[in-house]
Parts: sequence; structure tokens; C-alpha cells
Amino acid sequence: MKRIGIMTTGGDCSGLNSVIKRLMIGGNARGHQLIGILDGTDGLTAPGAPHTIDLTTDALPIEDARMAGSFLRNGNSASHTLNFESAKKNNQHDKFTARMKKNLESLKLDAFVLVGGNGSLSMANLTRNVYARLQLIAIPKTIDMDIPLTDKTIGFDTAVQSLTTFCDQLMLTARSHHRWFVVQAMGRDVGALALSAGVSIGADAIITPEIKFKPENLAAHIKKIQKNTGRDYGIIIVAEGVRVRGHSGKPAEIISRLLTRAGINNRTSFPSHIQRVGDTSAADRLLAAQMADCALNAIDNGETNMMVAYQNGECRTVPLIDMIDAGEVMEDPNIPDMFVSNAFVPADHPLYPVAINMDIYIGEIK
Ligand code: F6P
Repeated sequence: MKRIGIMTTGGDCSGLNSVIKRLMIGGNARGHQLIGILDGTDGLTAPGAPHTIDLTTDALPIEDARMAGSFLRNGNSASHTLNFESAKKNNQHDKFTARMKKNLESLKLDAFVLVGGNGSLSMANLTRNVYARLQLIAIPKTIDMDIPLTDKTIGFDTAVQSLTTFCDQLMLTARSHHRWFVVQAMGRDVGALALSAGVSIGADAIITPEIKFKPENLAAHIKKIQKNTGRDYGIIIVAEGVRVRGHSGKPAEIISRLLTRAGINNRTSFPSHIQRVGDTSAADRLLAAQMADCALNAIDNGETNMMVAYQNGECRTVPLIDMIDAGEVMEDPNIPDMFVSNAFVPADHPLYPVAINMDIYIGEIK
């Protein structure tokens, strides 16, 4: 019997409750005791910490297990926005991690499952001393799909569905008013969510940070559709991480202005956090079950400092440090001076040729 802690951190997404539920059921079935940390790192550092809940089989009702958000909650962003470098300089950071370590140790855990995105996992790697006496197993979750070494992350599939549903509705008002919508997708620095949802809805253009685009060619593409097909409405998806040279501000607003200047009637739309919610898709629930099972196997095998990765149709564990080393080092937009390991959409992504063949403008492909 082991005492296993579970913590969800960073931005929430659909599928967190599914993975908590699977860890509970699977862990209890193996004879382990499961303890949930409430409010992410806040639950380990705020006054009165540690804040925990016993995860017995009934702790998470079945109807909650398929819903978005985290039943354990992820905390507010206070501890996440701790300015890393300046905090390090005045010892604040050391105090913070020392508090985390002490409170974690008071729980007398044997293992710890950290369900997080690339910020949380990179942070865990930087502060691995906190988990030194525990078997640390990470489970990747994010709607951004920006974690190296795993082909899937919990929450991405439901986010694609939520954005698709949102755009399906927009398309109807777009048709009624003969106008184009420039929809800004989340995804931080990465275009994965925009690309998948864009192909799914049959957008007419998908603009992502990975591929350079020319505003004049985007406008020409929309005008060509209007001229050749008579269709004067549709959707252009732009990923929030897109930067347009010579302009500042939200990329959807910049592109909208450029299209207006080219004589194209359009509006912007920001689905925002709707992309992080939605009842968890079957694909995300399957992934949650597979990842939870893999994490529990790793704990039973005595592994530590590992990340569960979905590769070639199945889950396995990879050293957390390999995930860190495999990505591109980038500043985390939410944690000043903190660097994360990031994965962009690869140039050989199978949806690129599909999009091109479907007459979707995806930028200037050589
Ligand atoms: O990382 C997940 C994510 O939803 C990003 O796509 C987005 O940029 C960010 O979090 C939004 O963060 P917040 O919830 O702090 O506004």
C-alpha cells in the first residue's frame, strides 16, 4: 500500500476530473490510498496548508467525473505569477519551495502524481528538490498541445470539440450577414488547437505562429472564394500566438483590420475560456484512463521523475528531463522569468497537406 498524492496545476482543461477519477478507482483497486491536494500549489503553501481531501471511491461523483474543470481546483494564479528571478534573488522563491517541501513531507506520501502543462512540468523539474523523497510521476494535460515527447495531452480533444461547436454556431450568423469572422483560438505560442479546429470546421484560412502568412495573400484568398463560389461568409481562425510584423495587439483584431482595409466585411470573435470547458470527450476520457493506468504502473514499478507519454497508440513513461531537453526553451508568458520546454506543431504535421488540398489558406508554404 502506498500513499499517493494527486495535484492538478496550471490552466484547467476538460479531462482533469476524468484522470482524477481513474487514478482514484485504479489506485484504490491496487490497495493504495489517494490524497488530493486542493488548489494546486496554493494548497501546499497558503496559510493552514496542506489543504487536502481523501480520495476514496465516492469522493468524486460520477457526473462530475466527465465534466470540465478540476474537482481539486488548480488554485488562483498567485503562486504561478511569482516572479521567478526576482523571487530567487530575495530568497522568496526558496521560502516558497521550502514551504511546499515541508507541507508535502507532512503528508507522508510515497508517490505524487502531478497533472500539469508544460509550465507546471518545467517548474517541477526546476524544483525537483521539493519532490526528492517522493516518486514523482507527471501526467501531461493542456489544450495547447505544446508538451514535447507526447503525441496527445489530456484536454486537447475536448478543446477542439468546444471550438468546433462554437464556430459551427458562428457560421450561421456569418451567413445571415454576408460576413467573415476572424476567430482567435487559444494555444499560447502554438497553433495546434487552431489547426485542428480549423480543419474540423472547414475554415477558409488558418493562421498559426508556425507558418508565416502574408496579409495580402490572405485577403486575395478570401476574395477568390467570393468571386469563384459566390460565398461571402466563412471563418478565418487565427491562433493567439500569431505576431504580425509592424502591429501590436490581438492578432484577430490586427487581421480583421487588414481585411477591412482590403474591403472584406468581417467581425472578430473570441471564444476565450469556452475552449477549456465542455463535457469531456470520449477520446479524452480514454486518454485519461490510459494515462492514469500508466502512472499507477510506474508507481508500482518504483519509477520516479517520469512523465507519462502517449506514443504510437500507447502510453509509456519517459524521463521528465528528456521531455525538458526535447523542447524549445521559451519564456513562460504566465510566469515572469520562468522558462519552459515547448513543442510547436511539426512541419510534417499530417493536417497541413489536408488543409492545403481543401483550399484552406495556411500561410506561405514553400
Ligand atoms: O495554457 C492554457 C491556456 O488556456 C492558453 O491557451 C491561454 O493562453 C492561457 O491558458 C490563458 O490563461 P488564463 O486562464 O490565465 O487567462
